[in-house]
Amino acid sequence: MTTTYPDPSASLDDRVAGLMAQLTLEEKVQLMAGVSSFALHGIERLGIPSLRMSDGPTGVRSIKGEAATVFPVGVAVAATWNTETASGVAAAIGREAHALGEHVVLAPTVNMMRIPTWGRNFETYAEDPYLAGVMGVAFVRGLQGEGIGASLKHYAANNQELERFNVDARVDARTLREIYLAAFERIVVEADPWTVMASYNNLNGTLASEHRHLLTTILKEEWGYEGAIVSDWTAVRSTAPAANAGMDLEMPGPAKWFGDKLLAAVRAGEVSPAQIEDNARRVVRLIVRCGLMDDAPRPVGELRTTRHKAIAFEAACEAMTLLKNDGELLPLRSDVESVALIGPNAARVLLQGGGSSQVTTDSLRTMAEGLRDRLGPGVTVLEALGVDNDPFPPPADRRQFSPDPERSGEGLASTFFETADLSGEPNRTGLERHLMRWVSAAIASARRTAYASFRWSGWYWPEKTGVFEFGLRATGQATLRLDGNALISPDDPAKPDRFDVMGSLVPRRLGSAGLVAGHGYRIELDYTPASAENDYLALGVRTPAEPMTRAIEAATQADAVILVLGSAAVTEAEGYDRADMDLPGEQNALARAVLAANPNTVVVLNTGSPFALPWIDQAAAVLQMWLPGETGPDALAAVLFGDRAPGGRLPVTFPETFGDHPAHRPNADPLICDYMEGLAIGYRFYDAAPVRPLFPFGHGLTYTSFEISDLRMADTVRAGEPVSLGVTVSNTGARPGAEVVQVYVAQLDPRLPRPPKELKAFAKVRLDPGETRQVKLMLEPRAFAPYDPETGTWPIDAGDYEVLVGRSAGNIQVKATVRLEAC
Ligand code: BGC
Repeated sequence: MTTTYPDPSASLDDRVAGLMAQLTLEEKVQLMAGVSSFALHGIERLGIPSLRMSDGPTGVRSIKGEAATVFPVGVAVAATWNTETASGVAAAIGREAHALGEHVVLAPTVNMMRIPTWGRNFETYAEDPYLAGVMGVAFVRGLQGEGIGASLKHYAANNQELERFNVDARVDARTLREIYLAAFERIVVEADPWTVMASYNNLNGTLASEHRHLLTTILKEEWGYEGAIVSDWTAVRSTAPAANAGMDLEMPGPAKWFGDKLLAAVRAGEVSPAQIEDNARRVVRLIVRCGLMDDAPRPVGELRTTRHKAIAFEAACEAMTLLKNDGELLPLRSDVESVALIGPNAARVLLQGGGSSQVTTDSLRTMAEGLRDRLGPGVTVLEALGVDNDPFPPPADRRQFSPDPERSGEGLASTFFETADLSGEPNRTGLERHLMRWVSAAIASARRTAYASFRWSGWYWPEKTGVFEFGLRATGQATLRLDGNALISPDDPAKPDRFDVMGSLVPRRLGSAGLVAGHGYRIELDYTPASAENDYLALGVRTPAEPMTRAIEAATQADAVILVLGSAAVTEAEGYDRADMDLPGEQNALARAVLAANPNTVVVLNTGSPFALPWIDQAAAVLQMWLPGETGPDALAAVLFGDRAPGGRLPVTFPETFGDHPAHRPNADPLICDYMEGLAIGYRFYDAAPVRPLFPFGHGLTYTSFEISDLRMADTVRAGEPVSLGVTVSNTGARPGAEVVQVYVAQLDPRLPRPPKELKAFAKVRLDPGETRQVKLMLEPRAFAPYDPETGTWPIDAGDYEVLVGRSAGNIQVKATVRLEAC
């Protein structure tokens, strides 16, 4: 019997075969489901340890609540249009995963941004499958290069949160292949992610997790995928249909549909031993690839190091996308005498989106803090909120809490009880610093020792005088007391709330109190979770409202204004979509008033998706900073003052209004989503539509100017061969900067109807002032091919194709025609 599996010098296939030969049917089936939320079974008999997974792609979300570096979110990484940045961020995430003892990071998300209101737009890359595919290849290579497995998600057509578990995405075969599968195909073929995650939704009437055509025929057979298909968490909803479709791994554990039920199905002949052999082999392959069977010590990795912060910082700067810069208002001069920092997102810490990608962080640095530090003491800084944008009290800031009246620490003292009613001896105490999300480390470790209720206590120190609004979101029973009086209790009516936490609605209760700045208020928060698996608690505090007039006054007095608008904590998250494209709260009114008060206003958008900007004509300078990760506040300052150049280009079209958008109409039946626009997603729609977008796909200005000229390309090429081309790029301005050369292809007189043009190659070129470079690009044969649903192939038709080179979908600089000749 072969025993090559412990030998790292043996081939992967031999090691996998060696292990498979030793496993019993029961053990194989056991490996096809998790043992717990994010871990697989270990098989002690064979020395197989338990494989561990954690969420991404913004960083490593440790389920123990350990803090990790928060990198710029997916859309920001894509906005760099720089594959080296994507792989550098991913490699850093890989090293953090090692440091946290993880083996697989559930990233990247590469679903298309079909609608501007999707709650997870921030987490994914683009509206274009070529851009998403190329960036995804780089991410997977970077992560797996560190020995950490990727999970390419969510396969497939998972483009909305509305009814995400049940919606039926109805997509015609051609649109599916050209738009919704194309990024997956490229990444699978070029980067071989060790896992692919099957999505929750139905695709054309069949659950993705039971879709044999999707999982086996296309992914495993056609694309030759040898890795493991893991279900999205709870996406498996049957035993034999899922296993037979090619689902290899049911998550989370313990098994609900696989495990004993799967074993019984095999014994009953509903699932063949050959099917199990194939499914389990893929999980075993994952285990071997993750290095679990190697004797060598695992890399120690690194966590939150200076190097990782620097990677996050450079990526955040490079992602910043300059939408408008009339009169060269940016970069701001460092010798300004006074600056007003206005807007709800100047004062808050909105680094990332919500949901499973949310990384635990200790970073509390606000945009205003980053800007103040950059400006230094010589500049007068006026700060004003302007308006609040949060429909609910935003996450509590631990700096306003202390465990004792001396303010010896930040946060609250925590106490745990074995009983559900906080009676009996407290078992353990500690300092809770994360008051605003999953109950975190405290409960995760407490669960193991059967703690059943919790108390956090200490003092609250308001920084302003006025009426404060407190909010509690909790599953189970939660009570908040201030100075001994119950401010929020479980009997209070719960606020109706469309914002869920990972798919389930968590009740929210509110209470208000008049408080005086500088005074310490005794606070107690008691909590009994609904169950050990359902333990969400979040405390929010809204500081007293401020009249908008204060902001207008500050704007009038200052030399320059930095107005930071954007999403509130609940605006962009997994679990729900937005109802419209509007910035939340009265931010548009604030923008109009501030822009009228001071023309030297730079508007900064702290969002992860396109939003409507109805005041855009009034604004000279607008910078899209995305959800920038933990170094965002310093990256913003560096870009605004010209220490770094904004390097981003839009990976998604910004429509002027939601009504303009091709997919804005909701389906009458929320359980059905017809992709009626077909191929006309994003710029593929706007290129042919009577309406112009506000900012086209690929748009982004720089602090310098570029010229793209002299397109060189053969006139005639044999169909099926790649087409090489070259252009000359010059930096004609006075500052260094980077141009993104974008190559679009349009078929003239197409046999099948085709979008007006499609992105098929790009290159990012960094040039000093006066520098000129010859840039070479290559159009692969597939760049010319539509998918033909009749034949199930990608035929390349002979004929003429226009190759358009420019700096956005709306700004083509040079073009030429190539004739593809039949071979
Ligand atoms: C999300 C996945 C995530 C998983 C585990 C699901 O709800 O859709 O993206 O990886 O949860 O947290």
